[in-house]
This record gives sequence, structure tokens and C-alpha cells, in this order.
Amino acid sequence: MNTTIFYFSATGNSLHFAKQLANRINTQDLVSISEVFEQDAIQCSSERIGVIFPVFAWGPPRIVIEFINKLQVRGNPYVFAIATCVGIPAKTLITIEQALENKSIKLSAGFVIKAPCSSLAKKNALDHIVIGLDRKRRKLKTGEERLEEIASVVNKQIAHKPESSSWLANRLGTFFHAYGVDFFKTASQDFKVSEKCTGCGTCVRVCPRANITLSYGNPHFYDNCEFCHACIQWCPEFAITHPNFDTALKQYTNPKVRVNELIINA
Ligand SMILES: Cc1cc2nc3c(=O)[nH]c(=O)nc-3n(C[C@H](O)[C@H](O)[C@H](O)COP(=O)(O)O)c2cc1C
Repeated sequence: MNTTIFYFSATGNSLHFAKQLANRINTQDLVSISEVFEQDAIQCSSERIGVIFPVFAWGPPRIVIEFINKLQVRGNPYVFAIATCVGIPAKTLITIEQALENKSIKLSAGFVIKAPCSSLAKKNALDHIVIGLDRKRRKLKTGEERLEEIASVVNKQIAHKPESSSWLANRLGTFFHAYGVDFFKTASQDFKVSEKCTGCGTCVRVCPRANITLSYGNPHFYDNCEFCHACIQWCPEFAITHPNFDTALKQYTNPKVRVNELIINA
């Protein structure tokens, strides 16, 4: 059986899990969403299709929805989605289910897994309210804890209702997702680059949206940011910050993933 796994990953958590799962469901067909989402149409004739990505502001990243809008499948594939997050997925997978449904593609199974936090943003009052409302948060398991179970469901092609947070967290989180996405788009205009920047261009190469160029050796940011943190977290000098960041937080990238695996703009 042909299986394709599409992934979007900024700091490596989703890619790490995609690779782990690929071994267990017997496929080597891993495709970076960042590399294909700008094509006019993304055709996939596999019988099993997986989509693995992080949760951003209680919903799916903009780039993942754009990818789904261009996806063209053959027949009725078994489609599964996995959202990696730090604890509050809200209705991310239900949003994915709806986006697929708009393309007449059925989401057969949807899983949420817990992973380390890729965001350096300070938590605001709204974050604390949603976290407080989500009773399911503490029960969330990591990819490693769920790998066998998810692989078994996918291998047997069993239906699995898309997982989500508790309903109040779902309602509030989903309501604010749209504002989050809007804010993310231009957030890079407020990025600050310190004198530690060596002009190495790593930020340019890992940006999934080609939203960064080097100008006289300094990163220049445009208005199409995913706020995915790839440029910030992979910077060898930790030279990029944002006024909303918690300065006590350290840089994070998944220890099993190397920066070369996430290079898009080579
Ligand atoms: C801008 C941003 C927003 C995030 N929002 C959420 C969120 O709403 N809920 C959550 O549980 N995790 C959230 N996270 C954490 C990521 O979903 C999580 O760390 C994910 O595993 C990162 O995946 P990646 O390493 O593949 O990029 C957010 C991370 C970022 C950068």
C-alpha cells in the first residue's frame, strides 16, 4: 500500500514524529508542506495520506490550510492527521476535517500529541484562561507514548474521531485563532535583530514562506510571516527576538532533528 506523509515543522517536533511514524507504517514518502504549498495543485495518488503539523494559536497553521486547499487525491484514500502541541489543541483537527471536507476528502482519523513548546511568546491573560478551561490537557500523551497505538490504527485503517480539547477551551480557542493568525502575518515586522547576527542566512533558509531576505548582511522581514519561530529557534546566535517574548525562555529545537532537514530556501 502506498502511503505519503506530508509534514510541516518549524522546530522539528512534527518532523521527528513523522519520521518515527513512517518507520512503523512502512513508508519513506515524507513530503515537506513548505516545499510544495506554493504549487498550483498538489496531487497525491497514495491510498493512505497523513498530515502532521504543529498547533499555532489554538488552530492549524495558515500554511497547512493553504496546502489542503490545493491537495488533489485519487479515489477515497485513508487520510489521517496528527497535531503536535504543548497542551491545548482546541478544535485544530476539526478545522482540518472541515477544510478537507470542502475538498470532498474525508478525514478518517485525527490524533493530538504532546511535544515540547516551540513558542517563546509570553503567556497573556487569554492563554491562562484557555489553559484553565482545558481539563483534557493533563491527559495528553507524547508522540513516543502514543506511537504504537497511532501506527496500529493507521495500519488497520480504523476510523478515529478527531481529538480536541474540552468544549469551552475549544470554543474560546477557536474564536481567537483567527486573531492569532492575523497577528502572526505581520509579526515579523517587529522582530529585533541584535548585533550578534553574523549574516549567516540560516533564517532565510529555514523560513517556510520565503519571508526573509538578507540585506547588506542583515535579515529583512516581509509581511507574510507564519510566526512559526523557525528563524528564531534555528539562529546559531539567538540574534532574533520579538517584544512579546519571555526573555527567560531558552532557544528550543527538537534534539533529534538537524537544521539541514528543515532547509527550504537552499
Ligand atoms: C506561534 C506559536 C503558537 C503556538 N500555539 C500553541 C497552542 O495554541 N496550543 C498548543 O498546545 N501549543 C502551541 N504551540 C506549541 C507548538 O504547537 C508545539 O511546540 C509544536 O510541537 C511545534 O512543532 P514543530 O517543532 O514541528 O514546529 C505554539 C507554538 C508557536 C510557535
